[in-house]
Formats: sequence, C-alpha cells, structure tokens
Amino acid sequence: MRIFVAGGTGVLGRRLVPLLVANGHQVTATTTSADKLGDVERMGAVGVVMDGLDAASVGTAVAAARPDVIVNQMTAISVAHAGKPDLKHMDRWFGLTNRLRTEGTDHLLAAAAASGVTRFVAQGYAAWNGIREGGWVKTEDDPLDMLDGLPAHANSLAIQHLEDAVLGVNGTVLRYGALYGPGATDDQVELIRKRQYPLVGKSTGYSSWVHLDDAASATALAIEQDARGVFDIVDDEPAPASQWLPYLAAAAGAKPPMRVPVWVARMMAGDTAVMMMTEGRGFSNAKAKRELGWTLRYPSWRDGFREALI
Ligand SMILES: NC(=O)c1ccc[n+]([C@@H]2O[C@H](COP(=O)([O-])OP(=O)(O)OC[C@H]3O[C@@H](n4cnc5c(N)ncnc54)[C@H](OP(=O)(O)O)[C@@H]3O)[C@@H](O)[C@H]2O)c1
Repeated sequence: MRIFVAGGTGVLGRRLVPLLVANGHQVTATTTSADKLGDVERMGAVGVVMDGLDAASVGTAVAAARPDVIVNQMTAISVAHAGKPDLKHMDRWFGLTNRLRTEGTDHLLAAAAASGVTRFVAQGYAAWNGIREGGWVKTEDDPLDMLDGLPAHANSLAIQHLEDAVLGVNGTVLRYGALYGPGATDDQVELIRKRQYPLVGKSTGYSSWVHLDDAASATALAIEQDARGVFDIVDDEPAPASQWLPYLAAAAGAKPPMRVPVWVARMMAGDTAVMMMTEGRGFSNAKAKRELGWTLRYPSWRDGFREALI
C-alpha cells in the first residue's frame, strides 16, 4: 500500500514508519522541519515538510503522495513544539495538539476527499480517561470522560472532534494508552528521579500503558486488515498508580516516590493530575486482540518498564 503518515517523526512515528516499510509498503512521512528529512529517508520513507495547520500545505503533500491510506499521528507534545509540560494548565500545554486534532484532522480529511483517499486512521487516547463511573476498566462501548470542569476538558473536546470526524468517514481511531519506550517517558522519568512525581492519597486511579512497538504493530495490523471503528490499544494490565508508579521508579533506578495528600498535589500539579491519580479509569484490549489478532511483545508494563523503558 501507499501510506501517508502525517507526523512520522514523533516517538510513535519513528517506530511505525520503519515497520510499515519493512512490511513492504511505500511510505510518505511528514515533519514540520526540513532538518528531519534525512531521518525520514533513513527510515526508508519519502520525507515531506508539511504544516498540519495549513490547509494548502496539507493538500499539496497528500496530492503529491497519492496514498491509499492516511494515518494521522500529528501531535505537538514535545518540548520543541509545546514548551515545558504544564500539568496545571493542560489546555495551554496541549493548545497546539488540540488544534492539530481538530483543524489538522479536518485539513487531512479535506485533502483525502480531494485526492480520492477513502481510508483514514487516526491517533486517539485511552490511558486514564475512561468515564469515572462503575468499574476501573473500560471498553470501546463505554464513553470517554469529558473531564468537565477540569483544564483538560479542552483536550477531551479536541479528541471527541477527531473521533467524530474520523468515524464519520468510516475511518479508524486507535486510542493508544500511555506510551512508553524510547523518548516517550523521558519527562516523567526525570520527575520521578527528582522525586517530584509523588503518589497522591491512596493513588487508586487506574492507567493503561502500551509500549511504542506494540502501538506500532497494532497500527500496522489495523491498516493492513482494513479494520474500521474504535480500538483501545493498551496492554493487558490496567493498574492503579499505587502499583505502576513505584514499579516505574524502581525500573528507572530512582528512589521510591513520595506520598502527598490530595490537597498538596492539587496545589503542586493541579486538578487534572489529581483526578488521574485518584479516579482515572483504564482500558481493556480485548477487542483489539480479538479483531486484529494483535499479540503484544510486552503484555504487561511490568516486563516493559524493566526491559524497554529507554
Ligand atoms: N498517547 C500518548 O500518550 C502520546 C502520544 C503521542 C505523544 N505522547 C508524548 O509526547 C511526547 C513527545 O512526543 P513526540 O516525540 O511524538 O513529539 P510531538 O511534538 O508530539 O510530535 C509528534 C509528530 O507530530 C508532528 N507535528 C508537530 N507539529 C506539527 C504540525 N504543526 N504540523 C504537522 N505535524 C506536526 C511532529 O513533527 P516534527 O516534530 O518532526 O516537526 C511529529 O512527527 C512524549 O513524551 C510522548 O510520550 C504521548
């Protein structure tokens, strides 16, 4: 297939693009920076500079690539694009990412329509944002939490826009769990090493994790099998922060995390972080395993953190 990966140079794109090339596909991958075109070519893909927020730039890039499939992996979460992480103001930290998920997705869909591309796959999110009612582990049939009243509500609205737009053209939304692997958790590990990533109260909130290579393999399967709809791309073991955070600290060679009361965490890191640590809901990968035939290299973060964190 001819596959167009918008955002081919991010932590996930760097694992996905070589995998698609190895599977025999012709891949075009985008970056916003001409300096990275060499990196793209070393992955075996054709590189193109594209600004996902500029409709003309997107239209030109897609038309030139003439793809069978468009894969939207555009975010702007790295320090280079978003500045330093700002947990208290997630809406500001994710401002550009939210625009890429809304305007950027719309530009790609318009370019797809103009170029006759009928297959669209996009990055969603399923780490700790399951609806805060009932059990701790959610499926694709449960709604995502809109995080009403929290700064991250804007992020939820952007993801909802992306999902509605992509499902509206019978596309595929891959809701990845919290990604880990080379480059994906550097900022969190740095905080853990400085003992600035504490447990919050009883830390009962659940998260789902997934290694970058497993996220990439699920993406390749969804493309190659023409699977449509929503899939939660997470590992086998959604777990409360009280379990994964001390384990992650040990795997990173850091001292055990401190424990702070909720009110202190609220002052330090804001309401969204407290909600994640105390009330977050994780996700099941049963549908992705069943319908994609997906097998994970790291079925649990317990192995993945130890073997493949960096
Ligand atoms: N689901 C998740 O948990 C999730 C998903 C993704 C990322 N992250 C986190 O985000 C951090 C860094 O992620 P990252 O390395 O993937 O970097 P990133 O800054 O989020 O960039 C991802 C991709 O989007 C592209 N991009 C950025 N702005 C764009 C624009 N205006 N138009 C078109 N494309 C644009 C980037 O291209 P260039 O930089 O080459 O210009 C890159 O290919 C990591 O800590 C990671 O864990 C988390």
